[in-house]
Amino acid sequence: MTRQRKIPTGKKHKRVSRAGVTKSLFSANTYYAHTMPGLEKIAWREVEQKLPASTLLGFRTMREQNGFLIFGLNDDFLPLLKLRTVEDVFVVLASGEKLPPDREGLDVLAALIKDQVNWPRALKIHREATGYRPKPGTWTTFRVITRVSGRHPFHRKEGQYRVEKAIQAANSRWVLVDDDSMLEIWLNIFEREVVVGLRLSNQTMRHRAYKFEHLPASLRPTVAASMVLLSEPEDDDVFLDPMCGAGTILIERAIWGRYQQLLGGDIRREAVAATLANVGNKYKPIKIRQWDATNLASIPSGSVDKVGCNLPFGQQIGSKTENEKLYEQFLAEMARVLRPGGRLVVLTGDFHLLSHKLRAIAAFRILEIVPVTLLGVKAKIFVLVRQDS
Ligand SMILES: C[S@@+](CC[C@H](N)C(=O)[O-])C[C@H]1O[C@@H](n2cnc3c(N)ncnc32)[C@H](O)[C@@H]1O
Repeated sequence: MTRQRKIPTGKKHKRVSRAGVTKSLFSANTYYAHTMPGLEKIAWREVEQKLPASTLLGFRTMREQNGFLIFGLNDDFLPLLKLRTVEDVFVVLASGEKLPPDREGLDVLAALIKDQVNWPRALKIHREATGYRPKPGTWTTFRVITRVSGRHPFHRKEGQYRVEKAIQAANSRWVLVDDDSMLEIWLNIFEREVVVGLRLSNQTMRHRAYKFEHLPASLRPTVAASMVLLSEPEDDDVFLDPMCGAGTILIERAIWGRYQQLLGGDIRREAVAATLANVGNKYKPIKIRQWDATNLASIPSGSVDKVGCNLPFGQQIGSKTENEKLYEQFLAEMARVLRPGGRLVVLTGDFHLLSHKLRAIAAFRILEIVPVTLLGVKAKIFVLVRQDS
């Protein structure tokens, strides 16, 4: 149940000289997106492709939790909510640099909210994004989520209280709650820089609506979408995921845009069943089979344009010993089914082994390697092209 929270009153705060400190770092119409850590530059490629009016303002990382892509957009922002490679989208409410390295920093946080936030504009953007309108007679609820990197002379919660208090002072009829709030305001402190955002997306953005069946080690949909982007999708693609698990990569490829044929399979019967359940009767033409990815007799040589595959890391699924043979035979089979110039986009946590096996087979040229952190686990996406044999 949503519980109302009181803001501690604390002591009186002395006024600070704020010249230059509470000056906004970003102009109006600045947005940021959360990504899985490492994928912020990939997300920018998607934003650039789909919203050419946007301008890149920077990348940030919050420890192992999130990558940040910050950009300006003086155009309709609603297409941002349809991005596939990002986890959440926010509009920037306030920002600043040179946060004082002492407890005056707390006063600066409050001043950023008081001096910079244009609440009517922020609420208008939020209403357009979410459709939310407070019903007459109901209270608008809000909460603040705080993320901090670097060392500071105050606790994260103290910063949060000061921001909550400043928001409450500006909106006396709003109610602060612990969860399930109508408005979610994020206070991000990156070393001496502050970015305050209002969340515009809801959880269907990152979790998607198609995932009915989940399997252990199932891929985060935004990572699957990033792999699809890295495959450089084309309308006539024959796209294969030979170890499809619950089908995330195949479905993200289907949603991304036109293709000629989707092919997928897995060695486990329950994975094939999960993919079939998630696919339903959509995303045609699609063929799903139970098979061994190291021997795809049903797929003719040179008939596949793109492969997207999340290999067993050898931790949750498979083992390091099994991977030795699996990776070698998998690469040989992908070299067979891909046409020359075709792309293999492959994700693994066992990246030393994959690099080693790639050197041995010599059928692929490495175009790019993208490091990504998945729930604390370091992994890499390899983007490879099939060389002429
Ligand atoms: C990391 S999971 C893939 C998860 C998938 N991308 C998803 O989002 O659900 C690896 C999958 O490879 C499958 N697998 C392992 N060895 C295989 C093989 N030789 N042939 C086909 N599938 C295999 C496993 O059953 C598992 O479903």
